[in-house]
Amino acid sequence: MLKTKTCGELRKEHVGQHVTLAGWVHRRRDHGGVIFIDLRDRFGLTQIVINPVHVSSPEIFKLAESLRNEYVIQVEGQVTLRPAGMANPKMSTGEVEVMVSQLVLLNPAKTPPFVIDDEGRDVDENLRLKYRYLDLRRERMARNLTIRHTFVKFIRDYLDARGFIEVETPILFKTTPEGARDYLVPSRVHPGCFYALPQSPQQLKQLLMVAGVERYFQIARCFRDEDQRADRQPEFTQLDLEMSFVDREDVLNLVEGLLTEFTERYAHLHGKRLLFKPFLRLSYEAVMERFGRDKPDLRFGMELFDATDITRGSEFLPFRAAHVKGLCAPGCASYTRKQTDELTEFAKNNGAKGLVVLWHDPDGIRNSGAGAKLSQAEKDAIIARAGSKPGDLILLVADDSRKAVNEALGELRHELGMRLKLADESVMAYLWVVDYPLFEWNEAEQRWDPSHHMFTAPQDEHLALLESDPGQVRSKQYDLVCNGYEVGGGSIRIHRREVQETVMRLIGLEMEEARRKFGHILEAFEYGAPPHGGIAPGVDRLTMLYCSEPNIREVMAFPKNQQAMDVMAGAPSPVYEQQLKELHIRLALP
Ligand code: AMO
Repeated sequence: MLKTKTCGELRKEHVGQHVTLAGWVHRRRDHGGVIFIDLRDRFGLTQIVINPVHVSSPEIFKLAESLRNEYVIQVEGQVTLRPAGMANPKMSTGEVEVMVSQLVLLNPAKTPPFVIDDEGRDVDENLRLKYRYLDLRRERMARNLTIRHTFVKFIRDYLDARGFIEVETPILFKTTPEGARDYLVPSRVHPGCFYALPQSPQQLKQLLMVAGVERYFQIARCFRDEDQRADRQPEFTQLDLEMSFVDREDVLNLVEGLLTEFTERYAHLHGKRLLFKPFLRLSYEAVMERFGRDKPDLRFGMELFDATDITRGSEFLPFRAAHVKGLCAPGCASYTRKQTDELTEFAKNNGAKGLVVLWHDPDGIRNSGAGAKLSQAEKDAIIARAGSKPGDLILLVADDSRKAVNEALGELRHELGMRLKLADESVMAYLWVVDYPLFEWNEAEQRWDPSHHMFTAPQDEHLALLESDPGQVRSKQYDLVCNGYEVGGGSIRIHRREVQETVMRLIGLEMEEARRKFGHILEAFEYGAPPHGGIAPGVDRLTMLYCSEPNIREVMAFPKNQQAMDVMAGAPSPVYEQQLKELHIRLALP
């Protein structure tokens, strides 16, 4: 090794030792003929001192004078206690410094395109991604990679101790629909044929259950061609797991145990704790009624209230709608008309026809706008129902569609929660959402879509409704939600061919197409498929939350940018004509 200690290691008890360190020049200061360098490696920073009196030759001091940020150096010297009053309590190595006798320049560096420290994080993200290898030198990024490693290692150990084995499944496979477009890979050997990269290992893990593996997991790479968002990447990682001979409780308990232990054993080191222990559990219906979103942020309250009974028969036209619900934004009565217009725009963009705004002043609801059109009895009842206090703002949405009311208010609640910083950053508010409908009606295509994916089993007591009333069928799906994100989804699966074929037919798959695409799994079900179920928590999203980062790119070493590009390597990129020829592909570009 070119070093005997790391830059994060030295403490008071090392004083007097002779050590060799190697790393990057993080910062250099000249102080009256003595040079101070913060030397950095992945483990931390150590102050090294180059004093002409202590170096072994005058050339060394000269060399030290020529050092610039990010030069790679190796130093040898004695660990000494910093002089009285000079200790730096913000550095873990802040009590000591290394008095340099030898210095070697291992490699100079060009001036980096941005400063390598955490304060400089507001650099343009594409620049950060282009020079990701520099961006990752930052303490925060190194920390994120380490937390991710700790999490994944914990997962592996936890599951190994419970009889799971990790099995790798192919990346070159066939379509596995999870609601996105496939990434396709052309085959050279089979002209005109394509592999599809897995959107998840869903079918393969079910086939592993038919194979008798019983307890499978995989830190699995998944590929989905879909619109990018802060919590989405074209390729991402799931903790994919599947178990045989289980019911819902077994899967939920396993994952809950894993995340509880991880949070309590490791995540508290990064200032995170559980808000609900055991995790909260709500039905899909209750979640939509109370929070308007199937992935609510439960770190704050601000629940929706139903005012339909209050407003029935109102003189105020919008309140004639079949459903009127609202929420109370604490302390927002100070909002100007411009601000509430903005909220109205936001609600409209999220499916509301409009937004009724009531300012709660010290002497009651302000007599302007909608407030002027409501009766005193209506206003009093709304205040009571909203639990509103003077200084609050009451926001209501009216519509004949309950779904539209809930969804618009749900997004509004989420938005206000962020703007008002209502969430406690130190908590992980885990919630299980259960009892989903099996299907969602797709208005555009006029057909039923699976609410999770087509392999999810209907609840036993609803099996009979499958054909007669699909909209009423509840499924054995469960989602894991944390701090406003969907962090995992899973279900107990269908394991009988005839049920699977019925579901495929209901979602509009012709039998011939179903057999062409999924014949392998349908056939497998006929060879003694055990009852089974599983889940796939998203490793990137969970790591993002444990790291308190605003997007998953911050917890991935080499993510794509928001246009799904790797700007460092320049991918995707055109290929040689010869390569296309071999693949029998001719381009017809727009
Ligand atoms: P689902 O599609 O719900 O289920 O995905 C499971 C979890 O994967 C994460 N995730 C993503 N993370 C980053 N970028 C993306 N583009 C992305 N898409 C999904 C989320 C999500 O909750 N096969 C099923 C699981 C099962 O039924 O066992 C599946 O993939 O955290």
